[in-house]
Amino acid sequence: MDTIIVLDFGSQYCHLISRRLRDLGVYSEVLPAATPVDTLQAIPELKGVILSGGAASVYDSDAPAADPELLLIGVPILGICYGHQLIAHLDEGKVTAGTAGEYGLTSLTVQRPGKLLEGVGPTINVWMNHGDIVESLPSDYTVTATTADAPVAAFENTKRGLYGTQFHPEVAHTEKGAEMLANFVFDICQARAEWSPDSAMAAITAEIEQAIGGKKAIIGLSGGIDSSVAALLVNRVLGKKLVAVYVDTGLMRYRETELLKETFAPYHLNLRVIDASARFFAGLKGVTDPEEKRKIIGRLFIEVFDEVAAIEKADVLIQGTIYSDRIESGATKHSSTIKSHHNVGGLPKDMKLTVYEPLRELYKDEVRRVAAELGMPKSITGRQVFPGPGNAIRIIGEVTPEKAEIVRQATHIIEETLKEHNLYDRVWMSFAVLLSIKSVGIQGDARSYKYPIVVRIVESQDAMTANFADIPHAVLEQISTRITNQIKAVNRVVYDISNKPPATMEWE
Ligand code: XMP
Repeated sequence: MDTIIVLDFGSQYCHLISRRLRDLGVYSEVLPAATPVDTLQAIPELKGVILSGGAASVYDSDAPAADPELLLIGVPILGICYGHQLIAHLDEGKVTAGTAGEYGLTSLTVQRPGKLLEGVGPTINVWMNHGDIVESLPSDYTVTATTADAPVAAFENTKRGLYGTQFHPEVAHTEKGAEMLANFVFDICQARAEWSPDSAMAAITAEIEQAIGGKKAIIGLSGGIDSSVAALLVNRVLGKKLVAVYVDTGLMRYRETELLKETFAPYHLNLRVIDASARFFAGLKGVTDPEEKRKIIGRLFIEVFDEVAAIEKADVLIQGTIYSDRIESGATKHSSTIKSHHNVGGLPKDMKLTVYEPLRELYKDEVRRVAAELGMPKSITGRQVFPGPGNAIRIIGEVTPEKAEIVRQATHIIEETLKEHNLYDRVWMSFAVLLSIKSVGIQGDARSYKYPIVVRIVESQDAMTANFADIPHAVLEQISTRITNQIKAVNRVVYDISNKPPATMEWE
């Protein structure tokens, strides 16, 4: 398949470039900045390379290194921001510290459109985020656009297939950014749009056949979209040789087990529901420390899994890991551990099963599109995310079956109420947290002494930051009344008005 490679020079927007290309129907992957030119040239049907932005200056001693032969690769190259400066630097252009950096929306004047800026218009707003600028270029280059502070805001060297933009065409704020990327991949690289959920499914199915056809595999189903889609794709190839294991920890969502059974019945999935709730509650007895809870749950999951795998004599463990999971676990390698996400990198080292991840190249929206192709119902595809450790991290203090039931009921009430008011799909997550303290109330003229419930509803784009959602008073009141009327053990409801940062979405 025609492919465009994005080399990652450290920009927060790097994967956005790749996603935009896939949205245009062109297959794209992200590789490390220092990937050798031979490796790139060995990619079948490589049509072009994009050098991403990055925070470094080309003069920094620790600037991400690139193969010095990069510009001789033989396919068109587009440098964005840092990548734009890098092309100039590798080719004896002049890069200097700009007098003032440009950050945010900036007016761009197109001097001559050339190939890259064809059809873009004489002046547009573009998204800038840089300190250094390209001041001058060798004579075989053409400057195609300028801004007040950047004499070379875009360039091209059509003979040698080198293109650069100081601004970010991949960011939504850049007007006509998608057109510029389309000019690059279609007109300049002559790439064909061969990527779609259909082609992705066909490619994944062929790969599954080749990689694990005829073997016995197991997969952990969580009720989330990724593991569901992975299970269904593998099921199409392996049939009964795939055992889908759903571990009921007692900490799952309202009617989760029933929903899973109903959802997968039409697909004839070989589903094994393991009721391990007693084991999880016993393991968590007396534990109040959030990290300890997460570790215990991670360990118990793996224990249960290993037991099932041994009984089933499976060779392969299927995981629903997607592209962004790999980015996140890689990207956080050097940053401090805020919470142990047990489902990322939490597998034991001595595991006998081979791990296979059929969705590892897909972005979340692509998984959603594949799910739709597979005919999965909205009850699964339109669901909010749910953390691996489940309601254990929404019970502050010791976890008991009674408290798990309270959180499950309260969360269900919150979700139902938001759905009734068409708000459920507009927020990232909505759930209840139970605090293991009690407060005084008055119910039916009598004093009560019961648990409070925290209602947490947040909006977010990417889970990295979040805002508490602006929910109408009347809706909050309805939630509060329903919770205290229907859940006997609760007499008080509070709304969490914290953003992330400084708080996180989950309480533990
Ligand atoms: P925080 O609380 O860190 O959560 O702001 C960000 C997003 O990640 C989810 N989350 C998890 N997901 N396993 C998961 O699969 C986990 O251990 C885990 N912890 C948090 C959280 O629900 C939110 O969507």
